[in-house]
Formats: sequence, structure tokens, C-alpha cells
Amino acid sequence: MSASVFLLWLVSIPLAIHALPQSRDYLLSCGSNAEIEEGSLKYVPDNDYISTGNTTTLTRTDILPRLQTLRFFPNANARKHCYTFPVIRGARYLVKTVYFYGGFDGGKVPPVFDQIIDGTKWTTVNTTEDFAGGGSSYYEVVVAAQSKSLSVCLARNQQTAAGSSPFISSVEVHYLESSVYNSTNFDRAMLMTVARSRFGSQDDEIISYPDDIYNRLWDSFKEEGSPFVSSQSKVNPTAFWNIPPEKAFASAVTASRGKNVTVKWPGFPLSSGFYYIGLYFQDNRSPSPYSWRVFDVEINGQMFFQNINATESGQGVVGTNWPLSGQTVLNLSPALNSPVGPLINAAEILQLLPFGSRTLARDAVAMEEVKKELGNPPEDWTGDPCMPLPHSWTGLSCTPGEPIRVLSLNLTGYGLSGKLSPSIARLTAITNIWLGDNKLSGKIPDLSPLKALETL
Ligand SMILES: *[C@@H]1O[C@H](CO)[C@@H](O)[C@H](O)[C@H]1NC(C)=O
Ligand SMILES: *[C@@H]1O[C@H](CO)[C@@H](O)[C@H](O)[C@H]1NC(C)=O
Ligand SMILES: *[C@@H]1O[C@H](CO)[C@@H](O)[C@H](O)[C@H]1NC(C)=O
Ligand SMILES: *[C@@H]1O[C@H](CO)[C@@H](O)[C@H](O)[C@H]1NC(C)=O
Ligand SMILES: *[C@@H]1O[C@H](CO)[C@@H](O)[C@H](O)[C@H]1NC(C)=O
Ligand SMILES: *[C@@H]1O[C@H](CO)[C@@H](O)[C@H](O)[C@H]1NC(C)=O
Repeated sequence: MSASVFLLWLVSIPLAIHALPQSRDYLLSCGSNAEIEEGSLKYVPDNDYISTGNTTTLTRTDILPRLQTLRFFPNANARKHCYTFPVIRGARYLVKTVYFYGGFDGGKVPPVFDQIIDGTKWTTVNTTEDFAGGGSSYYEVVVAAQSKSLSVCLARNQQTAAGSSPFISSVEVHYLESSVYNSTNFDRAMLMTVARSRFGSQDDEIISYPDDIYNRLWDSFKEEGSPFVSSQSKVNPTAFWNIPPEKAFASAVTASRGKNVTVKWPGFPLSSGFYYIGLYFQDNRSPSPYSWRVFDVEINGQMFFQNINATESGQGVVGTNWPLSGQTVLNLSPALNSPVGPLINAAEILQLLPFGSRTLARDAVAMEEVKKELGNPPEDWTGDPCMPLPHSWTGLSCTPGEPIRVLSLNLTGYGLSGKLSPSIARLTAITNIWLGDNKLSGKIPDLSPLKALETL
């Protein structure tokens, strides 16, 4: 997985008052029991979106209010711990998870664990380096909702130290306009944010909400020795598919006439994979009928875009499926007669992560109904029932390949109360059901539709 971790502000808070995010967005301060305001953003307590885990408060006040509380998951028998958000099926969402360890468990080293989106492992969370540097870590992904709910889960993995607990400080889910990152096939892949930068700025400010309507973070990338220009940005962000913030166009790196602009960005090697790249340009001069900035862009020596004409209103180009690995080099070379040098204002790069399978919708719905009728379902009965396979719901076994079906249900000895929902009869691939040693009441539903059933 790519290192999509950045140092985050500890104390800087956006102060401008602006329109609030849409009601389709969720901003959570995990473990908090009251609403928290950071600038014009409101973070609400997380308990409406998750029912498991413990909460705690760090004894520090020099950090963002949202990072002062967290939720952690001490139950090592639960295979995953999920937040569930009501969403619009087919719509795209930007999901951001934020972690600040703060030594909440009395230890020195942050626990390492996995993040899962619906049925797909997203990435491993390792905040050790950021924490040692005094910062928090964040991870971000763009994903299309495959159903009417979206789950964001944490799970132990082989690297999770015994006795340590996965934890989380904040979750954000932003509804995206359909033009944003739209040339990606979101049925097949999600996009993990790797870097998002603006160039040529002389300050270190990270641009975020309200400049970026989705609270994406644009850091300030410094290229030693390159000439830079600053300008009054005049772009209209909504004229761009990806709605980059106007402020990201306020500076650029450039070169004098006839010279190339070469930027080694991002500032770390990429893991081998396919990437979505968005580049943004704006001419900082008044339009002149004879003097256009026209140039080509190559990435690692491969032509990326030809004859880009950076006008005053700005220009954005995207590549949706670029194979990259190691250090990336952007080379902008001026068109033959271009009287002014090329320039670049901002860029973003996201890695394509194939979307894994999910439990067949019929089976998933039936399992949700079974869960609903139980008084005390197992703690990990959240998120996708079968996927990813090592993190299926306790007691379930599933088919190893498509379509993903529930094959057996062993709930022996869980001390379950409540009723067995008749919906169990809709799990038509099931071969075995074991329910011994529980305190279930009511009658056993009609299981005659279960033709494959061998044991009960
Ligand atoms: C977590 O909460 C449960 C229930 O409130 C409690 O019994 C348990 O001791 C807590 N665990 C930790 C590690 O705080
Ligand atoms: C977590 O990251 C740190 C610092 O990069 C590294 O030393 C450590 O090995 C990582 N831990 C695991 C379990 O991968
Ligand atoms: C992306 O969105 C823009 C603006 O809505 C539209 O013009 C374009 O055709 C879309 N592209 C794809 C591949 O859907
Ligand atoms: C660049 O774009 C401007 C504005 O659209 C146009 O007038 C000009 O002819 C273009 N220049 C070149 C060299 O394509
Ligand atoms: C600028 O880039 C072009 C295209 O890669 C290359 O042919 C040319 O040699 C470069 N110029 C310089 C001065 O490096
Ligand atoms: C069902 O689960 C119980 C308790 O975990 C276990 O002892 C038993 O062997 C399991 N039965 C089957 C058939 O897997």
C-alpha cells in the first residue's frame, strides 16, 4: 500500500465562516460526547454510526479538539469494528480517517492495524512515524457507494501487537459532485489519495476547507532552486471537473523562456501501481493575443499531455490509469515558439485500488435481518458479512469465490437471545446451521426453501 500519510496540523484551525458542508456529509469526532466546532466545520459524536468500542479522552489541550478524544476496540475476538453510514447508492464519496495516538493506552508505540471499506481492505494504518514527529495521520479514499450503506472498518492484522487496540480519532465522509474524478471506473476501483500539492508557494499553509469544499488538504511543495510566480488567482473552481480550490492557483513554479520546468513530485517514491493524476495550470499574466503559455507535459519521460494552453481562467488535465513506480518526474517543455516559460500551479495523485468482492446482496440483506432479531448479536456483525474473508462475521463461513454466498452459520454457545428471523430461509446457498447452547425464543422458522441444507 502507498504511504498516504502526511503530517497534519496540530493547532491550525481554518477560521473563515462559509457555507456548511451538505447534510449528505458526515463529520465525526470519535469518542466525543459533544459537538465540536473547528472553524466553520462541525464534528459530531460518533455513537450514532458505531455501536462497539470504548472511548477515552487524551489529557492534552494543544491539539485539535477533534483529536482530544478517540474510540478504541479492546475486544480482540471481534474480527472487525465498523462505522456504517447511510449513503446514496452509486454516488461517490471521499472518506477520510484521522488518527492521533497520544499514548491513550499508556504505551509508547501506536498500534498497527487495517482499514476496510465495505468488503475491501483499504490499507494498513501505521501512525508510528507521524506520531514520533508530533503529528496526526490521515488516510483518504474516493469510493462509489455499492449499496445504501457504506462501512468503514478497523481490524487487527498480523502486525497488531498483542494487547493493543485499533483506535480512531475522526472520520469524514463527503458526498462528491458527479464530475469529481469521474473518468474513473468506480465499479472496479477506488482511489487512494497519495499526494495533493500546490507549487511555488512561499508559505507552508495547508489549504483545506473552506477553500476546498471537500476539506481535501493541499500541502505546499517546495522545489529547491525553481523560479516561482505568485498571482491573483482568478479561476472558478467549479469550471474544473475536480473542483480544486481557487487558492491552489495563487502560485506556481515556472522557468524562463525556452526552458523546461522539471519537478520531482511527490517527494517520495511511489509503490508500483496505477495512478490517477490531475495537473492544474493558470497563466498569471493578463491575456495577450500574441503571448500564450503553451507546453507539453511528460511524466517519467512519457508524453502525458501535448499543447497545454494555460490561460488566465486556468486549465486542468487528468490521466486516469498511469502505471508508475519509484520517483515521479514531471517535465514541462515549452512549445517551439512559446514566448513565455511553462508553469504548474497544483497537482494531485491518487492510486487505483481494485475493488474487492462483496457478499451477494440477497445474502447480506438476509443476514442483516437475522442480526436485527437477535438480542445480542456478536460484536463484529457489522460491515460486509463475508468480506474480506479473514474478517467475515463471527460464525459465518462463505464461498471463497464469486458469487460470495453464506455457506454455514455456527452460533454454538454464543448465549444468543432474541428470535431466529424467518429471513434465514433466504440464505439459499447455506448447507449447515448450528445453533446449540443459546437462549433463542420463538419457533424455528420454515427452512424448507433451503434445499442445500444438510445439518441443523
Ligand atoms: C471497555 O468498556 C467495557 C464496557 O464498558 C469495560 O468493561 C472494559 O473494561 C473497557 N475496556 C477498557 C480496556 O477500557
Ligand atoms: C510502522 O512504521 C514504523 C516507522 O515507519 C516502522 O519502523 C515499523 O516497522 C512499522 N510497523 C509495522 C508493524 O509495520
Ligand atoms: C465528467 O464530468 C464532466 C462535467 O460534468 C463531463 O463533461 C464529462 O463528460 C464527464 N466525463 C466522464 C468520463 O464521465
Ligand atoms: C490559447 O487559448 C486562448 C484562449 O482560449 C486562445 O485565444 C489562443 O489562441 C490559444 N493559443 C494557442 C497557441 O493555442
Ligand atoms: C526539455 O524537455 C524536452 C522534452 O523532454 C527535451 O527534449 C529537452 O531536451 C529538454 N530541454 C532541456 C534543456 O533539458
Ligand atoms: C461451532 O462453533 C463451536 C464454538 O466455537 C465449536 O466448538 C464447534 O466445533 C463448531 N462446530 C462446527 C461444526 O464447526
